[in-house]
Amino acid sequence: MCYAIPGKIVELKEKVAVVDYFGEHRRVLNEFFDLSIGDYVYAQGGILIQKVPESKALEILEQWKEMFFHLKEVDLRLARKNTESILKDPGFIRIIDKVKKREVLDKEEMLRVINAQDPDEQEVIYNTANEIRQGELKNSCCVHGIIEFSNYCRNNCLYCGIRSDNNKLKRYRMDLKEIVYTAEEAVGRYGFKALVLQSGDDYFYSGGMLEEIISKIKEKCGILLFMSVGQREQLVYKAMYDAGARGVLLRFETSNPTLFEKLHKDIKFKERLELLRYINSLGYILATGALIGLPGQSDEDLIADIMLTKSLKADMYSFGPLIPHQATPFGESIPVKPDRVFKIISLIRFVDPQAKILVTTALETLDRTEGRRLGLLAGANSVMLNVTPLEYRRLYEIYPDKAGIDKGIEESIKETVDLLYSLGRAPTDLGI
Ligand code: 5AD
Repeated sequence: MCYAIPGKIVELKEKVAVVDYFGEHRRVLNEFFDLSIGDYVYAQGGILIQKVPESKALEILEQWKEMFFHLKEVDLRLARKNTESILKDPGFIRIIDKVKKREVLDKEEMLRVINAQDPDEQEVIYNTANEIRQGELKNSCCVHGIIEFSNYCRNNCLYCGIRSDNNKLKRYRMDLKEIVYTAEEAVGRYGFKALVLQSGDDYFYSGGMLEEIISKIKEKCGILLFMSVGQREQLVYKAMYDAGARGVLLRFETSNPTLFEKLHKDIKFKERLELLRYINSLGYILATGALIGLPGQSDEDLIADIMLTKSLKADMYSFGPLIPHQATPFGESIPVKPDRVFKIISLIRFVDPQAKILVTTALETLDRTEGRRLGLLAGANSVMLNVTPLEYRRLYEIYPDKAGIDKGIEESIKETVDLLYSLGRAPTDLGI
């Protein structure tokens, strides 16, 4: 299955290489390889992860050639849906004009976007975000695999189904061998070029163990490895970086300190922020963000969440809806409507035109038939596929009825690739 395209090095300046994808250039970081102009490589998230022998690269590129330009046309067509003529409110028209001119919106204008109820206005919001995404980043899309390797968690977060108080949940931990094997399969058999290793805040895995897992995977696979292991010590994050992990997925969940500390009795908001800043200072690619639809969260909080993500210089925005879980205090809360999540995705695109924005599995769960497609059409450009062994997937129940829980990897890859092609998206790197 082809969901990464090799590129050719056309420029090299110290650690930064420029990679060409059929005439389109992306800047990537090279830390690991001895390179020359003309070499073929795979890059992910702006990091060079594999050298590809020329003959193999040419063979893959030959297969892609026609498809690549066809996809670009499809994407361009979908991104040029001019629907503004249907707008009536001059205030709203002014906001969209500002966005198109890349002018910064003020808070009132952002609130107006989030609260747009008129379906015509919503349509214009999504189309405008999609047009900006296309203009800034073309049709590149990241496809990451996620391995949920332990559902033990020492925390008791009010929203989360794997909270420590949930004693009805059967707990599991994958050992080193099983994790490395799962990663090798994802890479060798299914062709993933970027993986996320995720768990609850499970201190069973010491820094040394995580280091060993990462080193083993890096030894065997040329991939970009993201770690999503929660509020761990700075030393652990340093050790994981040194072992070869280059991405971290850690949300701050909400930028409202009072709400944060209500949700997480054992963590101080300040500590989370400090950790995120430290992670960034180590050179990791940072994916962070917040939950949408927390009880007690205001529209202003959500705007502050987006601005905080931007100020943290995050590489990727991960904003997903809260899905109420019966085994949590939020079991009875009312789920957000999908259109609110789509509007948040679009607003992120307005605020940070070059961002990588994830369609979360939670959004796919909230709107099973259209969540992923509409998310990608509302400004997002990144998706995640679950590659956790099926026997564990059901147990990683941060929220109920997670999308893709029974789906074999082949099937979900095929669905994803079909969807991306139908939208004209290509799995080229997004660069730095
Ligand atoms: N609904 C949606 N997302 C949730 N998470 C935890 N519980 C829920 C829920 N009920 C998210 C958190 C965490 C990520 C791994 O899962 O935001 O960062």
